[in-house]
Amino acid sequence: MERPLATAHGVIARCKSLAECTSESGFTTRPFLSEPMREVHLRLGAWMQQAGMSVSIDAVGNLRGGYAAQQPSAPRLFIGSHLDTVPRAGAYDGVLGVVLGVALVELLDGRRLKFHIEVVGFSEEEGLRFGVPFIGSRALIGGIDGELLGRRDANGVRVVDAIRAFGLDPLRIGDAQAGGDSLGYVEFHIEQGPILESLGLHLGVVEAIAGQSRLEMIFKGQANHAGTTPMHLRHDALAGAAEWITSVEKEAHATAGLVATTGRLHAEPGASNVIPGIVHASLDVRHADDAVRRPAVERLLRSAQEIAARRGLSVSWERHLDQAEVAMDTSLTGTLERAVANSGYPVHRMNSGAGHDAMIVAKRMPAAMLFLRSPGGISHHFSETVLEEDVAAALVTGLRFLEEVEAGRD
Ligand code: GLV
Ligand code: MN
Ligand code: MN
Repeated sequence: MERPLATAHGVIARCKSLAECTSESGFTTRPFLSEPMREVHLRLGAWMQQAGMSVSIDAVGNLRGGYAAQQPSAPRLFIGSHLDTVPRAGAYDGVLGVVLGVALVELLDGRRLKFHIEVVGFSEEEGLRFGVPFIGSRALIGGIDGELLGRRDANGVRVVDAIRAFGLDPLRIGDAQAGGDSLGYVEFHIEQGPILESLGLHLGVVEAIAGQSRLEMIFKGQANHAGTTPMHLRHDALAGAAEWITSVEKEAHATAGLVATTGRLHAEPGASNVIPGIVHASLDVRHADDAVRRPAVERLLRSAQEIAARRGLSVSWERHLDQAEVAMDTSLTGTLERAVANSGYPVHRMNSGAGHDAMIVAKRMPAAMLFLRSPGGISHHFSETVLEEDVAAALVTGLRFLEEVEAGRD
């Protein structure tokens, strides 16, 4: 345990170092294909090389570190997570899984296995820049289409142009696909919730990842003078959006297991003495059962129409994501559970409320996920943290997992 503990200390130090790579000073904010991502690639790439890995960056900006097997014809095991962040993020969401993958290769001390290991640092998972998540993992499974490449960020830059501006070639996106014989994908990630802590557990094995919907709502009213327009003659888009947001919260409270959030609101023209004429509001809806989530979204849209009609507003929406719930692979998850148990930790199966690259990669190969306890259940916030003992537990389990996969190749 001494070596994993020392390595865990180093893993945390590396995550903190990568958190310095940011586009917002004083915080960690790292969108897809932003300048600070180059520095992340440099630092992680150097650690990968020290661990004996070959390093490359694919056409959507995923950082890929290959650790060769005994035989070139061997299959490949992917270990990955994402390197982009939400605004004002913590140091561990995503990054930890990539740094941990490199640390596992380091702990092999140059020993070659019966399978290649590829550690992938996905370039985009959060959806911050283009409003749609999972661009990095979609490239790995060949899921990038023209519609996605044409999406624009807040500055009007298209995905395809952002790729070129980063010095990458969009014509090579097809090469980013996992080729050859893939054994599977494993992702180490902080839980981002309070369950493991409440149970006093270091680790959790993910059974399934909740589905999610993401939409952009647009309420339109009439901008007008805040001093001269009587209350009964107003068409205030922000007041309408506010009423709807409250109804969204009510609906989620009334539906077991449903979570619904408006996390971004933009009012135009945005002056204290002007009645807001246009409001853009994000909507994020999640549930472990798609049969509950999808009708709930439709109810929320009907409620937006009713509120808008009553207030003399119009409302429209763009659907950015309807990602189905995804079960992890039974066999690979069983291997992970054995690794947890054989490392001396209790096995706890759980669902993930957060989305993860594993839910995309699962379309192409067996996928499994291991959660590490999140102190205070805090994530998507700069106070997010992880315990050294839990990182050590994940490293011990990860090594066992590699041994179990190795044994399965006999
Ligand atoms: C990813 O962090 C998500 O939004 O679940
Ligand atoms: Mn996240
Ligand atoms: Mn994440």
